[in-house]
Amino acid sequence: MRDLPKVELHLHLEGAAPPELIRQMAVEKSVDISGIFGPDGGYAYRDFWHFLQVYEAATSVLQSPEDYARLTTAVLEACAENGVIYCESFISPDFCGGRDLSAWRDYLHAIREAADAAERRHGITLRGIVTPIRHFGPDAAREAALCAAETAGDWIVGLGIGGDEKAGHFKDFEYAFDMAREAYLRLTAHAGEWGGPQSVRDALTHLRVERIGHGVRAIEDLALVDELAENGTVLEVCPGSNVALGLYPDWRAHPIDRLRERGVKVTVSTDDPPFFHTTMTQEYNRLADAFGWDEAVFTDLNTVAAKAAFCDEETRAKILKRLEVPDA
Ligand code: ADE
Ligand code: ZN
Repeated sequence: MRDLPKVELHLHLEGAAPPELIRQMAVEKSVDISGIFGPDGGYAYRDFWHFLQVYEAATSVLQSPEDYARLTTAVLEACAENGVIYCESFISPDFCGGRDLSAWRDYLHAIREAADAAERRHGITLRGIVTPIRHFGPDAAREAALCAAETAGDWIVGLGIGGDEKAGHFKDFEYAFDMAREAYLRLTAHAGEWGGPQSVRDALTHLRVERIGHGVRAIEDLALVDELAENGTVLEVCPGSNVALGLYPDWRAHPIDRLRERGVKVTVSTDDPPFFHTTMTQEYNRLADAFGWDEAVFTDLNTVAAKAAFCDEETRAKILKRLEVPDA
């Protein structure tokens, strides 16, 4: 499974930070975040809301463009080791320069340089999706979306809100998403993880997104599942994340197979791999064990993901070629 070429559409850059790197940076900066680590040295949290706090505490040691360059290098090396050839990562102006446009450009420059070097070294391609953090509120989301709109292009390719799905309502974020759409950014939103099927409907209605981050709780409303299938809405499913956070008791209970069987375009990603003790290889192995999925299914998933990627057509053609699928 490790060597199978993979496309990952849903990865949070800070959430993919190896705990060793965060610990090292904390030492360098004399920041005490020892409380976020468990006895095994990994990140420790009680539930999703505590996870968000631990995530933000870990992120507090990432204080400069150079720190983000180091992070990007480490993350892409780990992705490439697991066969990922193309990855879209959520990057937040909230953490990269406090939503100041000039600082954001500096962070972005450093991240892109590190990504270019990783592409030369490991053959992995990265693109960025700007992510407003929902629980930081609609005003912060507007500022993040402005950063996205001002830097939209061949590398910043989308906007995708994350954070606490129970904070506020999607209609509060319409302005931010309208701004991004006008800048030709592609749109996704975390929904149907903690918010249930209505949250998926609201993301589609208010934000007019073409992909949904998670979206798995659509399974609780089969009419919605059929709508997703009919409209070709792509789900960025992160099964290991859902199981680790207790959304489902085990892999066999996860709805990804049922969603796929009913015609929904599902893809597979890791979300925040070290937090959930997972990798893309492990996700594939667990899915094979739980649902009997074989290589043909995984190639199909990766083709769906490549076709749903927010990159330009030339990049897409290259990915499809590496997946050995004709790009027609
Ligand atoms: N930020 C990082 N991981 C997340 C998740 N699984 N849901 C919402 N926001 C997130
Ligand atoms: Zn996520």
